[in-house]
Amino acid sequence: MNPAITYIGCDDRDLQLFESQYALPEGMCYNSYLVSGGRIAVMDTMDPRKRDEWLDNLRKALGSRKPDYLIVHHMEPDHSGSLSAFLEAYPETTVVCSAKAQGLMAQFGAAPASVQTVKEGDTLDLGGLTLRFIMAPMVHWPEVMMTYVPELQTLFSADAFGKFGVYHADEDDWACEARRYYFNICGKYGAPVSMVLKKVASLQISTICPLHGPVLEGERLAEALRLYNIWSSYGVETAGVLVAHASIHGNTARAAEQLAEMLRARGIERVAVTDLCRDDMAEAIEDAFRMDRMVVCASSYDNNVFPPMHQFLWKLQQKAYQNRTVGIVENGSWAPSAGREMKALLEGMKDVRIIEPLVTIRSTVSQESLAQMEALADALAG
Ligand code: FEO
Repeated sequence: MNPAITYIGCDDRDLQLFESQYALPEGMCYNSYLVSGGRIAVMDTMDPRKRDEWLDNLRKALGSRKPDYLIVHHMEPDHSGSLSAFLEAYPETTVVCSAKAQGLMAQFGAAPASVQTVKEGDTLDLGGLTLRFIMAPMVHWPEVMMTYVPELQTLFSADAFGKFGVYHADEDDWACEARRYYFNICGKYGAPVSMVLKKVASLQISTICPLHGPVLEGERLAEALRLYNIWSSYGVETAGVLVAHASIHGNTARAAEQLAEMLRARGIERVAVTDLCRDDMAEAIEDAFRMDRMVVCASSYDNNVFPPMHQFLWKLQQKAYQNRTVGIVENGSWAPSAGREMKALLEGMKDVRIIEPLVTIRSTVSQESLAQMEALADALAG
């Protein structure tokens, strides 16, 4: 990172659930930066959980200087939650943000004395450095913007290119937690993400400074851009099959494992199995988007589908799951209903091809259902 940029972010190792829903085995980091030209800009504030630590980082980085600008890229509280505390400490700072962000500030209880709203392409002269603003609406809130500093070839990308984990987590594998973060948080917004990627494609970028996760440079930056182009266009990252099961007493789970073996035996390189009742649902969502094929296997329940599967498919629908091939395995001891319900949910998704046969298991796998499973495995491998 260029010496004109000072990192002043914080790690949160104690937070268990991001957005009160996503497991954080490696914690989380919230990034904030100081950009120093002749004048000084602070890039975003901090989650209130880390407010004091961040204000301390800021004071140390400033030394005897005062910030001229606070650039607010995103109003979600994990970044703007210390805005009022910042304004109390530095009331003369001009807050720079999109018009939409200004509208949100009062709702979150912040009242800056000086606000400068900016729009696409506007610039701010920091004295030797230029901040050029790029609007990024719906990545993943409507007020989001990014900032490009041409002299430093640096893009401040808001939540884009973020990941779960403290700053130095998963240093050898950025993609794993970046993918889980992307599909669960931004997955629904592929079109706006694609649009902003097109806008920045012509820029010389050697450094990306996101609001979560490490600063990206070199090979890691190139790989992140490659993956974001695939993810935002709902393309296939890995050819393979996700077998997702929701099983009440274990028989459907055993059938799912059996089907996974059939798929492996047919030479499908990547076959992942997930237990929707016990495994991390966010990881199952990520794997569904990652691969080109999926099989959903579920018990029937209350003349519907077993709720963990319903929740999974509902979430996929919310995240705009699309352009994939899906097989269905239902289990029902007296009146199978899961297949009908799963099919109806899948049919509401864009370009999801349901592959035949729909396998029906009656309690446990029989010769008849085994033959159906072999036929489904053939179809998926074909
Ligand atoms: Fe990291 Fe959308 O907040």
